[in-house]
Amino acid sequence: MATVLLVMSTCALSATKTPHIVILATGGTIAGSAASNTQTTGYKAGALGVDTLINAVPEMKKIADVTGEQIANIGSENMTSDIILKLSQRVNALLARDDVDGVVITHGTDTLDETPYFLNLTVKSNKPVVFTASMRPATAISADGPMNLLDAVTVAADPDAKGRGVMVVLNDRIGAARFMTKTNATTLDTFKAPEEGYLGVIVGGKPQFETRVDKIHTLRSVFDVRNVKKLPQVVIIYGYQDDPEYFYDAAIAHHADGIVYAGTGAGSVSVRSDAGIRKAEKAGIIVVRASRTGSGVVPPDAGQPGLVSDSLNPAKARILLMTALTQTHNPELIQQYFHTY
Ligand code: DGL
Repeated sequence: MATVLLVMSTCALSATKTPHIVILATGGTIAGSAASNTQTTGYKAGALGVDTLINAVPEMKKIADVTGEQIANIGSENMTSDIILKLSQRVNALLARDDVDGVVITHGTDTLDETPYFLNLTVKSNKPVVFTASMRPATAISADGPMNLLDAVTVAADPDAKGRGVMVVLNDRIGAARFMTKTNATTLDTFKAPEEGYLGVIVGGKPQFETRVDKIHTLRSVFDVRNVKKLPQVVIIYGYQDDPEYFYDAAIAHHADGIVYAGTGAGSVSVRSDAGIRKAEKAGIIVVRASRTGSGVVPPDAGQPGLVSDSLNPAKARILLMTALTQTHNPELIQQYFHTY
């Protein structure tokens, strides 16, 4: 009888164990500081450290045991392939530990469509990984960072958040890293998934999930960068009237491993880009055609050079091509990844 009681009380204890969430800070406006509380542009992003961010939201302690690490403290326009590789490797190491239940990453909004998608492809765990950010600096009236951070920790600590892929939480919304993108330069409601919508919403401090993503991510992803030392170099070339062929010469001269062409419409190629893409392909560079329109699918077209990005925007297509090139240069296989990831 005594043994039964002991087993029951151990189960009850583990059922109510407070989750341990690690916050990895990388900078951005959420760590930004301005000269006055009305200044919401022209301030310094990445000014405050992770401990300041955590201490500003003591309410997180009611939800989780929170610890913090500083990975970088920069505006996300200065995020590099080396830093996102280091971040992915750190997240993998943390989530492999039994005492870590989830990770929250604070990040600038400017490239918040890129880093979360890289982790979506390369994190080998179904524990929650949640990115958050803010549009107003920490010093502003109605700064959005503290609530966004609290919401991100709430989502990361929620058992229902497991296995949904990497998420982006901002402005009461829970979005999938595969689809979320910045749609407005300055407003709070900037992060959207124009065609697919959100995974869910946070209501009264509780995550309410509505949907799941079919595209392959995290545990089912074939990509593994845990021992990769350097990511391949992939550049984006923008398509427009009179776009010059010499962009491709520059990519070849600088030994790019891949090129994403942000084409007009459904990735249409001008005669000059057509010549440039074919030249790059002859030089062994994989080229993927995407669309500069902001949404929609670039369908395969036998008459046009290059692979197609499917529904990935140019920034996300660059992340997938860079990741795919860590393990293959086979164009058919890479094309298949674009249709499934
Ligand atoms: N330059 C920015 C960054 O992405 C600040 C903008 C922001 O975080 O909202 O870090």
